[in-house]
Formats: sequence, C-alpha cells, structure tokens
Amino acid sequence: MAPSRLSDFGITKRLEGKVALITGAAQGIGACIARVFVNHGAKVVCVDINAELGQSVCDKLGLQNATFIYGDVTNEADVEKAINMTIQKHGKLDIMINNAGILDDPKPNILDNDLSDFERVMRVNVAGVFLGIKHAARVMIPARSGTIINLGSISGTLGGLTSHAYCSSKHAVVGLTKNAAAELGKHGIRVNCLSSHALYSAMTQKFFDFDEDGKTRAITSLEGVALQQEDLADAAVYMASDEARFMSGHDLKLDGGFTVINPSFGLFSKS
Ligand SMILES: NC(=O)c1ccc[n+]([C@@H]2O[C@H](COP(=O)([O-])OP(=O)(O)OC[C@H]3O[C@@H](n4cnc5c(N)ncnc54)[C@H](O)[C@@H]3O)[C@@H](O)[C@H]2O)c1
Repeated sequence: MAPSRLSDFGITKRLEGKVALITGAAQGIGACIARVFVNHGAKVVCVDINAELGQSVCDKLGLQNATFIYGDVTNEADVEKAINMTIQKHGKLDIMINNAGILDDPKPNILDNDLSDFERVMRVNVAGVFLGIKHAARVMIPARSGTIINLGSISGTLGGLTSHAYCSSKHAVVGLTKNAAAELGKHGIRVNCLSSHALYSAMTQKFFDFDEDGKTRAITSLEGVALQQEDLADAAVYMASDEARFMSGHDLKLDGGFTVINPSFGLFSKS
C-alpha cells in the first residue's frame, strides 16, 4: 500500500516538547489524536468521563507520555482541575484539543425531539468547548502562547445531515472558534476548528450506514478514499505545530469537498 500517514514519510516528532490536553480521549478520534501526538513527541493529558477506557489508553501510550484525568467537560470545576493538574505536572499547556462531543438519537420529526436532549447536546458540545477554551486561555495568556483546536463537523456548515441539536451545536463551535480567535490573538494564542465528514466511531455507528471499509454512503467528489481517524489526527498535528503559526479562526474541513460541491446540478454532474 502507498504511504499516506506523516509517519510513513518519516515525518515524526513535530510536537517534540509540547504538552497537549485532549478531552474525550478515552476512545475514537480523541484517543487517536493522543496516540499520534505521542508518536510526534508530545506529552498528552487525556480527560474523559470514561475512566476505565481513558486509563487504558494512557497505559498503552506509556505513563511517561500520557496521563489520564477524570473530567466532565460540562463541569467547570472538573475542567479547571484538569488544566491545573496539567500545569502542576508539566509546567505548561501548549495545545488544548476540545474533542469531547455527543450525538443524540436520530429523530427526523422535530415534534419527537425533546428539549432535554437538545440541551444535553448543547451542554457537552458547546458549553464544554467554551469551558475548555476559557480555562486553556487562563494559563495560555500569561505564557503568551498556545493553540486551541475545537472539533467541529460538516454539520457545522451544512443543514440536513444530523439532528437539530447536533447541527446547532457544531455551527456554534465554529462561531466560538472565530470569537475566541478574535480575542486571544493579541496574546499570541491561535484558535481553530477541525471539522470532518462522518467516520466510523461509537458515536456515529447508529446514525450512518457504513460500508465494510468504514466509508459512508454520503456523496463526496473524492473516489476511493475512506476517511480515517488518523486523517484528523495528522491534521491536528499540523494545526498544533509551529508550521501553522499564522493559522487562526479557521475551520479546516476534511470532507473530500463535500461542503463546497453540490453534485446535484452542474457541468460535472453528468460526466
Ligand atoms: N465520528 C465522526 O464521524 C465525527 C465527525 C465529525 C466530527 N466529530 C466530532 O469529533 C469528536 C469525537 O467524536 P468521536 O466520533 O470520536 O466520538 P466517540 O463517541 O467515539 O468519543 C467521544 C468521547 O467523548 C467522551 N465524552 C462524552 N461526553 C463527555 C463529557 N461530558 N466530558 C468528557 N468526555 C466526554 C466519551 O466518553 C468518549 O470517550 C466529537 O466532538 C464529534 O462531534 C466526529
């Protein structure tokens, strides 16, 4: 198979000496980012409500590289404590990845949608990201450096893909990213959003139909490529690295062109 990952090209250690806190790192995309960041030389702090899985992710990465801290991103005291423990252990926080997120059940009729579900999703996906940005900024501002990456989605650009709650929450994450970038830039802190098409995970398996190789049925103009968690992790490596030093307020989309191409009409739709 042709090489595709950064490490396949011998590009490693792009985060040497950096300290990253990753929320929702007990499984899925967050756990993958933790693994790839450690491969690139970072020390990671994994925060999650799933203590058993979170600890086992850190055990596998080696406790000299990875630390697990229990934390619910909707609880300000938990977020504050996780950031403080990171500073106590490593003396700094270079990278904050606000990855923890949830998706409610697919209910295509708004009349079946409960306010409590809507509020639950907004609380984790929006308030959780707000608290992560706030407490990362608290320690990054005095350091006059740092980079924050919030996990978005193609549901933060397009309507009609997922639930009202999830779509609203991911649009809000893009807004929060832009506002935080506007405020924190003067302190040398970059804030960006990393969005993607759907990929197979515990969160999405009930929502989308996946082929055997993990591809969704959804249309992208890009043939023969199945989005993987490592694609997001490699993008996060770039966004967190010094090479991205002029990138802020951006929503980087790994979507095979899905959000910028409407295949239903146009020159290429017939060919
Ligand atoms: N999987 C996809 O297709 C996809 C696509 C685009 C964006 N995303 C986004 O990527 C992020 C990760 O998604 P995933 O697919 O890896 O999901 P996942 O369900 O596999 O993992 C999410 C993790 O977040 C943790 N979590 C949930 N609520 C929490 C809370 N209150 N506090 C702390 N941790 C909490 C869970 O325990 C879990 O470990 C989410 O923000 C999601 O919206 C996912």
